[in-house]
Amino acid sequence: FPVVFSVEEGPLKDEDAENLLDGLSVDESRPERPVLLDEQGRPLRTWQENYPYSQKLQRKEYERRKRVLQIELLKLQKSVRDQGLRIVVLCEGRDAAGKGGTIKRFTERLNPRGARTVALDKPTEREASQWYFQRYVAHLPAEGEIVFFDRSWYNRAGVEPVMGFCTPEQHRQFLRQAPLFEKMLTEDGIILVKFWFSVSRAEQRTRFAIRQVDPVRQWKLSPTDVASLDLWDAYTRAKVEMFRATDTEHAPWTVVKTNDKRRGRLEAMRHLLLRVDYEARDEAAVGKADPLVIGAADTLLE
Ligand code: ADP
Ligand code: AMP
Ligand code: MLT
Repeated sequence: FPVVFSVEEGPLKDEDAENLLDGLSVDESRPERPVLLDEQGRPLRTWQENYPYSQKLQRKEYERRKRVLQIELLKLQKSVRDQGLRIVVLCEGRDAAGKGGTIKRFTERLNPRGARTVALDKPTEREASQWYFQRYVAHLPAEGEIVFFDRSWYNRAGVEPVMGFCTPEQHRQFLRQAPLFEKMLTEDGIILVKFWFSVSRAEQRTRFAIRQVDPVRQWKLSPTDVASLDLWDAYTRAKVEMFRATDTEHAPWTVVKTNDKRRGRLEAMRHLLLRVDYEARDEAAVGKADPLVIGAADTLLE
């Protein structure tokens, strides 16, 4: 069986890769899925950091629950089309928090006609010269559509000020304007759901290391990710400011703890199902939110 995980072939240059993988090795007995081992040869358990459960949700149980929620999401989608609703599901969080993976499970069974994902690249020169919100506005939903934003206008509250891609004045202006912008959207009837996916520091590092060794994940590892390792506190400060300014009545944040990705994904799906009034909801299938994993910004943030 070929060993498919190779440190040498990762996207990072030697030195960065060495720092990221310092003391770690790959469990070569499991070539189908990369498992990182610590210096004692034990699987890393960084996901347990600040996490309310001592076991991850088992795959079988996860698949079972996911299917039930995905069936409900299909009913929701039907209602969205029948009633001409417009839904924005905005996904934010640190690098490797699980935004893209969660969106993938949201959309897995949906009709792609009516469910889109928007993951914009960094602004072009032309876009950078336009009104900041302009390029996002172009992707807002029409009637009957659900649009998932994998990152969003909130770049200007996180990566941009932290990495120096915008000026402090632009950052301040954004924090002042974002609630006004969102007020316009919600007053017009758009349903806006804002998720903050929360990953702990050591777990973020582990996920970057896995991206380095796993060929199917390497595209996710960017220079910005590597930089964020040293910028943890700067990102934390930016996040706190962001919540202070933009956790509003009309567009509140919902925090999802994603160190256990499976629990996080299920809770995010359930949250959308509880937020939108759709036809033939099966209350038992949807279930109740787990307050240990998901909650309002002020309940889950220390
Ligand atoms: P992702 O985490 O979305 O896979 P990155 O970590 O590479 O992507 O970048 C994070 C975000 O920062 C992306 O939305 C990207 O477009 C944005 N970004 C990267 N470089 C710049 C830049 N020079 N100016 C503005 N935004 C940028
Ligand atoms: P995030 O929400 O992605 O910023 O994740 C933050 C991680 O750091 C979570 O594991 C939190 O439990 C933890 N955390 C947040 N704030 C603090 C703090 N002030 N001190 C220690 N840990 C924190
Ligand atoms: C992220 O959160 O950085 C990406 O969306 C990839 C993921 O972890 O799913």
